[in-house]
Amino acid sequence: MTYPKFLRTVLLFAAASRLTSALSFTVANGQIYTPGLAILNSPQPGTPLGGELIEVSLDVSTNGRLPLPPYPEDSPSKIHNITIFLYSYTTGRNFTISNGTASANDASLGEIMLQEPGSTVKHVKWIWPDCLVGDGQPTELDSDRGAYNISIRQSFRLNGEDHYTIFDVPISVTNRIEERFERPSCDALKNPLLSPEAIRASADFDVPALFAPGDSTVLETSESTGNGGDGLGPTRPGAGSGQGLGAGSGQGLGSGASSILGERMTWGLGLGIVAALLI
Ligand SMILES: *[C@@H]1O[C@H](CO)[C@@H](O)[C@H](O)[C@H]1NC(C)=O
Ligand SMILES: *[C@@H]1O[C@H](CO)[C@@H](O)[C@H](O)[C@H]1NC(C)=O
Ligand SMILES: *[C@@H]1O[C@H](CO)[C@@H](O)[C@H](O)[C@H]1NC(C)=O
Ligand SMILES: *[C@@H]1O[C@H](CO)[C@@H](O)[C@H](O)[C@H]1NC(C)=O
Repeated sequence: MTYPKFLRTVLLFAAASRLTSALSFTVANGQIYTPGLAILNSPQPGTPLGGELIEVSLDVSTNGRLPLPPYPEDSPSKIHNITIFLYSYTTGRNFTISNGTASANDASLGEIMLQEPGSTVKHVKWIWPDCLVGDGQPTELDSDRGAYNISIRQSFRLNGEDHYTIFDVPISVTNRIEERFERPSCDALKNPLLSPEAIRASADFDVPALFAPGDSTVLETSESTGNGGDGLGPTRPGAGSGQGLGAGSGQGLGSGASSILGERMTWGLGLGIVAALLI
């Protein structure tokens, strides 16, 4: 049993989908933990979406443990960049939400880490492109509406090691999206759709969801000082190694971290769930 007792398993059945694969999500206090340093506030997996735009809300401070960029050069942990795509093996589409370079009229968005400077939460707002206009479930075979994944790709460094991970959040584009002259064209945002095998080969899929309540991973930042090792505590006067990695600080780092985690587990009591989404 790797999860503490208060983490419960919830099975969500996505209506009208074939039960072909099981995806599990680590959810606590309404936040979805990812294989990376960002934490997803919204949308929740399995949500029907529509409206004027889609908003993806990401905490890029690992809930206050990671400072905001610009990071100190020697920081052992940092987010290099985040890209987001919206794709579907059902419709065969793969749209750019952000690839780091904004396109005309922000049809696709610039680097997410650079938006809303000073804010630990990035609200990624992307106008639905024209081919997703409609209301309700897709009715025609060639409709582009229906099941999609928001594919959140994080390039980051964790405790001195670089990673590139992909976190897919299933949503259904079934709510009303109104026709409007200014909607970006789907064709201007489209990318080739790669096979699941090619995707698996392109990223690290052995990184688990990180930093959920009860996760004992310590986040080393250049502000870490040995009193917790994750940048949460004040600087202890006279602390030696900037990374809290020195031999002398090893002991203090362990015990400090576990008492901080102990507190968090108390706050999180009864609120954590692990949701497995069957689609
Ligand atoms: C993201 O950062 C990695 C590592 O620095 C780099 O190789 C990659 O080109 C960057 N991608 C984007 C879209 O900026
Ligand atoms: C969403 O992503 C999962 C896992 O990456 C994949 O198995 C599933 O086919 C994707 N769904 C769609 C609609 O493409
Ligand atoms: C980013 O995405 C836009 C829209 O899909 C595309 O036109 C552009 O070529 C892409 N840029 C890079 C660097 O991939
Ligand atoms: C979607 O397109 C982007 C940009 O070309 C690519 O990096 C990504 O792997 C593609 N996703 C899928 C599922 O093919």
